[in-house]
Amino acid sequence: MRVFVILPAAGMGTRMAAGTGSTAAPKQFLEIGGVPVLVRSVRAFLAVARVDAVCVAVRAQERERVQAQLMEYKLGARVHMVEGGDNRQQSVSNALAALECDAEDVVLVHDAVRPLIDPATIERTIDAVVKHGAAIVGLPAVDTIKQVERTADGAIVTSTIPRERVVQAQTPQGALFGLMRRAFIEAEADGFDGTDEASLLERAGIEVAVVAGSARNFKITQPGDIELAEFYLGR
Ligand code: C5P
Repeated sequence: MRVFVILPAAGMGTRMAAGTGSTAAPKQFLEIGGVPVLVRSVRAFLAVARVDAVCVAVRAQERERVQAQLMEYKLGARVHMVEGGDNRQQSVSNALAALECDAEDVVLVHDAVRPLIDPATIERTIDAVVKHGAAIVGLPAVDTIKQVERTADGAIVTSTIPRERVVQAQTPQGALFGLMRRAFIEAEADGFDGTDEASLLERAGIEVAVVAGSARNFKITQPGDIELAEFYLGR
């Protein structure tokens, strides 16, 4: 059994630029303490000895920049690149197609823009995939969760979801390669676009276990998040 990691890093960073008046800056290339977000994410997985290879999905025009970063930070032979797609699912699908895996190998997918993932959580996710077939990192909800209906006047609450019944899905999200590939093939055949791998696995009838995540493993999304990441690192 080998372990492969896919880092989708082909996003455009439009939400980060929203409201700032600046042009879009892909979040994966911003720096935290002088080190690019993507480099930090790659390093976290390379720190896990069981990880055989890391495959980064990047936009064609960023290939050279990423190649230069891989060299500068000496990220080595375990890291490869594929071309990203028009959405996250397509980027992951391109990477899955490029991996030379067996059905029983473990494949983990991790948002490149969650640079503070820690090796212990990665290890626990791999163990959970081996045990259950599929697993994601999830954060128990601390807020009360409302279901809403969107109207022209804004959102209206329709019900309350007991918070002990929900977790916020983080990454890594993983499965045995055979299960992940089946979930992607079925989603693509049905024209289903999900925002994470678990949604594809669920609809394929595959049970997905949850590993405890942490607030620290947040997704760099909006202005201020770089400062928040630096705060976590400084502690
Ligand atoms: O936009 P979102 O927050 O869902 O992005 C999650 C991850 O998916 C990011 O690391 C981003 O770079 C990646 N992504 C991608 N290809 C796209 C869009 C997003 O690899 N076309």
